[in-house]
Amino acid sequence: NSDDKNELRSPICCIMGHVDTGKTKLLDYIRGTNVQEGEACGITQQIGVTYFPAENIRERTRELKADAKLNVPGLLVIDTPGHESFTNLRSRGSGLCEIAILVVDIMHGLEPQTIESLNLLKMRNTDFIVALNKVDRLYGWKTCRNAPIAKAMKQQSKQVQMLFNDRLIQIITQFKEQGLNTELYYKNKDRGDTFNIVPTSAISGEGIPDILLLLVQWTQKTMIERLTFSKEVECTVLEVKVIEGHGTTIDVVLVNGVLHEGDQIVVCGLQGPIVTTIRSLLTPHPMKELRVKGTYLHHKEIKAAQGIKIIAQGLEHAIAGTSLYVVGPDDDLEDVKNKTMED
Ligand code: GTP
Ligand code: MG
Ligand code: NA
Repeated sequence: NSDDKNELRSPICCIMGHVDTGKTKLLDYIRGTNVQEGEACGITQQIGVTYFPAENIRERTRELKADAKLNVPGLLVIDTPGHESFTNLRSRGSGLCEIAILVVDIMHGLEPQTIESLNLLKMRNTDFIVALNKVDRLYGWKTCRNAPIAKAMKQQSKQVQMLFNDRLIQIITQFKEQGLNTELYYKNKDRGDTFNIVPTSAISGEGIPDILLLLVQWTQKTMIERLTFSKEVECTVLEVKVIEGHGTTIDVVLVNGVLHEGDQIVVCGLQGPIVTTIRSLLTPHPMKELRVKGTYLHHKEIKAAQGIKIIAQGLEHAIAGTSLYVVGPDDDLEDVKNKTMED
């Protein structure tokens, strides 16, 4: 029931960081997919969206034996490119999320687009968790597939633990130089002021349970108001795409509200507002990436938060990055059209 005041929507999490730190690979590991290897030159060039149902997160975090009481239906994760030429997409992605994962390569430390991402997060006051990725590349690392990171760390030799600590200290210092306190998450007693670091591997999965649990716990604990489901549609166009057999479609992120087949919508177009009717609402299967061709699920209606492909006529000149509006029974079409063009 969408009038339920206590109903929460899925939190939106954006993955950001310098090129090749392993953002897409981390998602591939969680999804059990191979999106990264299909990318041209291994470089992400679009925003990606994946929905993780709560059931899956519960399963993945079981070993941590935490109070994994999940009140949210799932988690919507947005993958962004790290290449320097995609600042606009990082900005768009970070503008949609309530929390971010900032991925840092443990072998490289903070890099130019790490700092750029940090500044975007600071600007919007967005909370984030640092994934200190590629721990498996520490010389002598012993693989502990899927293990919570504290458990994996205990399995390592003294040498590996020393190598890890040296790099961790360096990276904490680099964050300090950016004006931020950070600490290994299971040693972090001052969560208010100090951002958590979770060491991870996107190849063998150490630290993945920890990061999933932290994301869900932290958003549920601190963002209840923001995550309370609202009927007011909040929706952003990510991509305008021609799909064989469907014509021009738009990929959107529905942040709040419900979309229905047959809804009259208005989107911002190059030649003015586009008024059209939703013919089909499609999503990929849970745990699959919206930007990858595959089979789609058809829906009569979809509740936020979700990544959705919308099929409708006249979308050829729609502009990515702008808001989508639904014309409700009490709305004046001209008002909605004007609102659309304000973006
Ligand atoms: P962009 O989206 O292009 O910015 O890159 P990305 O951050 O998504 O990184 P991507 O997933 O493309 O990974 C870059 C390279 O690092 C690939 O060759 C991955 O196989 C490798 N890689 C990613 N994560 C890990 C990891 O945890 N360990 C190791 N050893 N390699 C990794
Ligand atoms: Mg990527
Ligand atoms: Na890459």
